[in-house]
Amino acid sequence: MPQQITDQFRRLTGTYPDGAWFAPGRVNLIGEHTDYNDGFVLPFALTSGITVAARRREDERLVFNSSSESEPVTLDLASLRGAAPEQFPGWYAYPAGVFWALLRDGHPVHGMELAFDSDLPVGAGLSSSAALCCATIAAVAELSGLDLDPLQRATIARRAENDYVGAPTGFMDQAASTLCTAGHALLLDCRDNSSEQVPLDLPGSGLELLILDTRTPHNLVDGAYAERRRSCERAAEALGMRSLREVDDPSAVAALTDPLLRRRARHVVTENARVLESVGLLRESRVAALAPLLDASHASMREDFEITVPTVDLAVDTARSAGALGARMTGGGFGGCIIALCPVGSVESVARAVADAFADAGFGAPQWFTAEPAQGAHRLPGPTSRTEFHLAAHR
Ligand code: GLA
Repeated sequence: MPQQITDQFRRLTGTYPDGAWFAPGRVNLIGEHTDYNDGFVLPFALTSGITVAARRREDERLVFNSSSESEPVTLDLASLRGAAPEQFPGWYAYPAGVFWALLRDGHPVHGMELAFDSDLPVGAGLSSSAALCCATIAAVAELSGLDLDPLQRATIARRAENDYVGAPTGFMDQAASTLCTAGHALLLDCRDNSSEQVPLDLPGSGLELLILDTRTPHNLVDGAYAERRRSCERAAEALGMRSLREVDDPSAVAALTDPLLRRRARHVVTENARVLESVGLLRESRVAALAPLLDASHASMREDFEITVPTVDLAVDTARSAGALGARMTGGGFGGCIIALCPVGSVESVARAVADAFADAGFGAPQWFTAEPAQGAHRLPGPTSRTEFHLAAHR
């Protein structure tokens, strides 16, 4: 990967980078739509994500290159300062938003040339946008000499998405991309952003986690996600609570007279409990025992939160009847990926069964892979300066 991104940087810019960085996508094991309710989530980092090679400039220009675009986009840092920053369309808005958020906080950032590459499917609910922001901040922080810990980086990335791009996400994706460690899921308490690394040894438990992309695109900037957020806020207000996180007893939601708000709140309250139960099981290395909790989470998303779609429900049902121990949709919903906890050796047949069911139903072919918990955002090993890159290339 370092060599590939360096070559790409050279091809796109004609120069050597100062370094290369990587930020992963994430999959959420359990805890959906709980983050913006001050609740608990349990994601882990994927090995796939966004790679960026970058070179510091002596002026205030930003040049964004991508392997998937023919032309670079160039802008001035000055256009991102002040009350009405320039808005960039498309995916460049995400890295531009990171610079904007850093400037807002008064960080002295430099002009820079960046080349991005991705091996994550876009719109699959695996947080490609958070990975893009977190990879950008990893590069910028180092090249501008900013002393930012992983939590601060994730916070900047979130502001880029929420306040610059306008995607009303919670904090799970950015936190996962920066804070996760290999071999662990991340328990994040979104009330105070405290976290714990929870061991997750799938092969040691005789298990594999299938991630199957239904390829039903979802779009978070869409109204449905924002609408769910508002319903949760209204439900908390009606219960006299600061957030739904404060509701410990699931039966308390019965006090909500509006049946829709009652269902939405019940999902959040029971999902928080499922996250904590899952963590308890993982601490005892009882990974397979997560299966019924995954199933219950999916049922709750389908019946109470109403964020599943026919492709996703078919994938989950088929995975289960084909031998998965438990399965659920993962991510923001309305499409995207499912996860299925499978006994070792059964992933291929489970995924094939879903592909057959999709073909029978007239749905497009899904894609799949298996995942194990990987490391959060980091600098890629290799040359540490443009001179070393130059020397390495001519050795
Ligand atoms: C998206 C958002 C996250 C979270 C999930 C649902 O991925 O970006 O903040 O709300 O949906 O759990």
